[in-house]
Amino acid sequence: MKALIFSGSTRSGSINRKLTGALILKLEDAGFEVTQISLSDYDMPIYNGDWEDKHGAPESAKKLAAHFKSHDAVIIVSPEYNGGLPGLLKNTIDWLTRLGDMKHYHSPVFGIASCTPGAMSGIMCMRQINYILGRLGGEVLPVQCGVGNAGDAFTDDGLLARDNDIKLAEKFADGLKTRVARKG
Ligand SMILES: Cc1cc2nc3c(=O)[nH]c(=O)nc-3n(C[C@H](O)[C@H](O)[C@H](O)COP(=O)(O)O)c2cc1C
Repeated sequence: MKALIFSGSTRSGSINRKLTGALILKLEDAGFEVTQISLSDYDMPIYNGDWEDKHGAPESAKKLAAHFKSHDAVIIVSPEYNGGLPGLLKNTIDWLTRLGDMKHYHSPVFGIASCTPGAMSGIMCMRQINYILGRLGGEVLPVQCGVGNAGDAFTDDGLLARDNDIKLAEKFADGLKTRVARKG
């Protein structure tokens, strides 16, 4: 079982990258072989139809699509910007859809997670990502791993510190494993 994980934030001190690190350990415990990538290595111009007519889809979009195809689960760990998903992530998804809907990929199971400084744990952005992936025909795990109050959510070693977050992350990883196994 192979899982691809990336954050919707490329910021060096990103709390979502912290959550990504903590989730990788839980995914490995659940039996996944995990590949972590950074969207900073998959630069894409803001989608524009004229640009696409001239150049086609960016190579980075094709490379990312190949990653989606070769993994059983894809986990997106995203910051919430103004009650929604960041432009970086939306632009990345928009380009990917120019190569075929998610259902035309090897159809990984998608998992969504988010970390916020405040208590709300990114529920609005996770709901949007869930909607977009579902609309594209993607299979999305209903359990989402939202971690709020990031200031005291992690130990110095980068592990999740609070029992409720640990339990949620384990449920999330186990849920992905079950879904992937069911697909066969
Ligand atoms: C443009 C912008 C909009 C934001 N909007 C929200 C928001 O709607 N909800 C929220 O919880 N945090 C919001 N924040 C705060 C982010 O959650 C915070 O900056 C977080 O650290 C970003 O994630 P990162 O650390 O992974 O980069 C916003 C931050 C920015 C820069």
